[in-house]
Amino acid sequence: MRLVLLGAPGAGKGTQAKKLIEKYGIPQISTGDILRKAVTDGTPLGKEAKSYMDKGELVPDSVVIGLVKERLAKDDCNDGFILDGFPRNTSQAQTLDGVLAMMNTPITVALSVDVDKDDLMKRLTGRRTCKSCQQMYNIYSSPSGQDGICDKCGGTLFQRDDDKEETIKNRLDIYEKSTAPLIDYYKKKGILKSVMGVGNIDEIFKKVCELLEKK
Ligand code: AP5
Repeated sequence: MRLVLLGAPGAGKGTQAKKLIEKYGIPQISTGDILRKAVTDGTPLGKEAKSYMDKGELVPDSVVIGLVKERLAKDDCNDGFILDGFPRNTSQAQTLDGVLAMMNTPITVALSVDVDKDDLMKRLTGRRTCKSCQQMYNIYSSPSGQDGICDKCGGTLFQRDDDKEETIKNRLDIYEKSTAPLIDYYKKKGILKSVMGVGNIDEIFKKVCELLEKK
């Protein structure tokens, strides 16, 4: 399976991707995670990316496309992969198609996770992530047992720099303008599937698996 996960910021792409990795044994390629690691490590790429990410803007295509190409060439992608947060606009989608065509490994399915805009703000302002194991929580819907501490590994929970209300508004606007048109892009290719991303996370995952396994 070579999967593209589509959906607005906070729709639950990362949450579902983590479960898909466990079930299907294929890697998640999250451009957001790769960029955040570069920021934390203080690399030149991270320094460049940070100024865009802090404003909720897209990092330039030239930077992101190079990262994805490099990641897709790794051996663990031979049996499939989950792209989370990429492509983010039509130009990235077209470049991706070109790269995968050369490798004879086209995208097999694009899955859109749909959530109303009103829910997204609460999800994003409430998100907390473990610094050590990346386990995700939400102070409103799925809090950790002890405030600020990860249930799984005891690590410290943090709030992403771009999960501030003003930045979230900008991320949602950019999603509508640049990324939402990809739903049509993949629909025209006949590989689009959609799931409502509201309700119990495990139940959404069950529906996701049913959709992905349906011929
Ligand atoms: P990125 O990291 O990709 O962020 P995003 O697309 O904004 O998506 P999120 O990670 O915020 O949301 P998600 O859908 O994964 O939701 P999650 O599962 O975490 O990008 C960040 C930035 O990097 C961009 O703004 C840009 O600057 C840059 N960037 C990245 N890729 C780029 C690219 N290709 N080109 C250019 N720039 C790029 O869930 C959110 C919260 O909701 C969590 O707290 C979770 O616990 C909770 N939740 C999940 N499911 C449910 C549910 N069913 N019910 C209740 N709560 C739920």
